[in-house]
Parts: sequence; structure tokens; C-alpha cells
Amino acid sequence: MCVGSTWATTMTSKQVLLHVESLCAGYGDSVILDDIGFSLAAGSSLALMGRNGVGKSTLLRTLLGHARQRSGVIQFNARDISAATPYARIWQGLGWVPQERLMFPSLTVAEHLAIADRKGAWTCERVYGLFPRLRERQRNLGGQLSGGEQQMLAIARALMTNPTLLLLDEPLEGLAPIVVKEVGECIRRLVEDEGQAIILVEQRVKFALRLTEAALVLDRGRVAYSGSSNDLLNDVQLLDDLIGLRSGSNPQRKRSGYADASETRREPDDMTTGGQS
Ligand SMILES: Nc1ncnc2c1ncn2[C@@H]1O[C@H](COP(=O)(O)OP(=O)(O)OP(=O)(O)O)[C@@H](O)[C@H]1O
Ligand SMILES: [Mg+2]
Repeated sequence: MCVGSTWATTMTSKQVLLHVESLCAGYGDSVILDDIGFSLAAGSSLALMGRNGVGKSTLLRTLLGHARQRSGVIQFNARDISAATPYARIWQGLGWVPQERLMFPSLTVAEHLAIADRKGAWTCERVYGLFPRLRERQRNLGGQLSGGEQQMLAIARALMTNPTLLLLDEPLEGLAPIVVKEVGECIRRLVEDEGQAIILVEQRVKFALRLTEAALVLDRGRVAYSGSSNDLLNDVQLLDDLIGLRSGSNPQRKRSGYADASETRREPDDMTTGGQS
């Protein structure tokens, strides 16, 4: 099923920040992603969703050059980056907040930011403005931070590279509800107030769809939905079909923390629903 797949085709080539076409990718000989295609306009944001193991992280890793691209095209800022090294892609403006956070336990908060520092609008001061908790913790080591502080640092570190497009892989995963609210609010400010373009992989469906203009849902490595986030948010049946929220057809729902479909009908600022603690 591919719903609303023509939605992004009205963008002119000048507006397109990221264009992915006929992308097949995986690890070694195994193919995880098959015939993926989507476009993202400059300054806009995309929610990347799907059940556990469908290939969301693999898609981000492929964009970053950390997985094996077998065929297809990845155009970023009108350049084909398919053959570029991961380092070159970061240099060209892709930022990454990995699902595993990947902190250095023996480096301080300030050192994490310093090693990522690249000239641009995001400076230490501006990053500390977005995450006041990191300013308080700037002399603490990575290994001394709480889960929420580590996640803030992972986002802050990626911002220090001054990305045109920030890829966030489940930034709220495994956080206590109160911390989910705090980090979620920082991400909201980043997108709505600072205008940062993002691709957000997130299990909190309502939060992700409210924050983004477009959504891409994967199913077993293929595109199952490509279209408006708002349309998907308002279609509980479609959400249930795509992600299996209501039917319980997602066997790993508990581990993933996917909320019940009824979450989509609750109050907009309730980001704590359906998460792990
Ligand atoms: N480094 C790897 N080498 C080989 N296979 C991998 C590797 N990483 C992931 N896979 C496989 O690729 C498939 C997609 O995994 P991926 O991590 O992209 O899914 P996901 O949608 O991000 O899942 P989750 O919601 O659990 O984070 C899975 O079958 C997984 O086992
Ligand atoms: Mg993943």
C-alpha cells in the first residue's frame, strides 16, 4: 500500500533539500530497504515511522553512509551523495542523533560540544540556551549524566555541526515520562521556534505527527505511506493498519512503547503516553 505518494511532487527542484529515489540498501548481502522514495522540502520536517525492525534506523544510516546502498539515488542539497563518505555527508549538512546516543563517558559535556563544533549559527551559547540543563552540567563527564541529559547532549552535539537537516532516531526512547516532556519540548522548540529541518523517528505517534508536515511509514523495508502528517494523524484506522496500534498486531508493541491508537485522540501536549519509564 502506498498512500498519498504524490504529495511531495509539487515541490520545485530548488525547494528540495533531500530527494531519495529507488533506494535499496542493507548490510553486507542482506537487503533491508527496497525501492524507497521520498522528498523533503528545505526547512520542513518528516516523521519516519513503522513497526520494530522495518528499517527506520537503517534508512537513517543509509542516508548517512553507514549502511550499504545497493542502488538508487540520494540527493542532498541538489548533490548526489550516494558515494560520499559519512564524514563528507556530515560536512555537507546532515546531522545525526543516533538511537544509541553514543556518548564518550570520559569526556565532559563541554568537550563533547567542542569536538563537534563547526562554524555556523549554532554555537555553544545558543545550544546551552536551548538546553539550560547542559549549561549546568558542562563540567560533568558523559558517564555521569542521566538518560535525559545524555539525550539532550546527543542532540546538542549534533547541532554543533550546524546541520541543514537533523536526523533524530527515537530521541525519547527509554526516558522517564517527566523527562520525555522536557526533551520533547526542546525538540518542539528546535523545529517550531528555530526552524530546524528534521527527520524524526519516534514511537510517540501523536507527538511526531503534530511536529512534522510529512510522514513516511515503512513496512518490511518498503514505503507503506508517504504523505501529510496531519492526514495520517486524523485517520485512526489508517494508523492502525500501518502501525498496528489498536489491533495489537504489533508483537513488539510493549518493547517499542508504541501508544494505543486512542493516544491520537487525547490532549495534544500529553507526550508521556505510551512511553517507557
Ligand atoms: N548492523 C546490522 N547488520 C545486519 N542487520 C541489521 C543491522 N542492523 C539492523 N539490522 C537488521 O535490519 C532490520 C531493520 O533494522 P532497523 O534497526 O533498521 O529497524 P528499526 O525500524 O529501526 O527498528 P526499531 O524500531 O526496533 O528501532 C532488522 O531485521 C535488523 O535485524
Ligand atoms: Mg531503530
